[in-house]
Amino acid sequence: MLIYVLHGPNLNLLGSREPEVYGRLTLEAVDRALQTLGGELGAEVRCFQSNAEDRLIDWLHEAGRDAEAVVINPGAYTHYSYALRDAVAAVGIPVIEVHLSNVHSREEFRRHSVIAPVAAGQISGLGLESYLLGLRAAVSKASEREQS
Ligand code: DQA
Repeated sequence: MLIYVLHGPNLNLLGSREPEVYGRLTLEAVDRALQTLGGELGAEVRCFQSNAEDRLIDWLHEAGRDAEAVVINPGAYTHYSYALRDAVAAVGIPVIEVHLSNVHSREEFRRHSVIAPVAAGQISGLGLESYLLGLRAAVSKASEREQS
């Protein structure tokens, strides 16, 4: 089973970016934890990060062809990218939206996700655990689909 993990804009700065909001863990550490959990769950995990909307869309399309599910932290695109939303809706595999911070307890504009209505689910506010739970959900949604 192949799972794509997509990190959106500014997540390459994890560790130094607003650590009071996003913690001190680097993106490399997040990816390592995901690879480790993937190994335990019997899934191959491929992680990608880009600050560019078009690259995230291209990886979603690739995942739709090659992978069983996606975990995505769309960063600020969460709140306004209809192009990303359309890509999530188009791919036909489960997509789990994750956020490190609790987007519902922050500024008003972060409370709205244009991705959530087309995602299989949203996990927010648990730091690294948001990603790890997202990966567990992705594997379990993908297995359900395999069995039906
Ligand atoms: C984020 C929340 C977004 O509102 C923000 O723009 C990010 C990170 C999170 O993981 O908490 O870049 O997606």
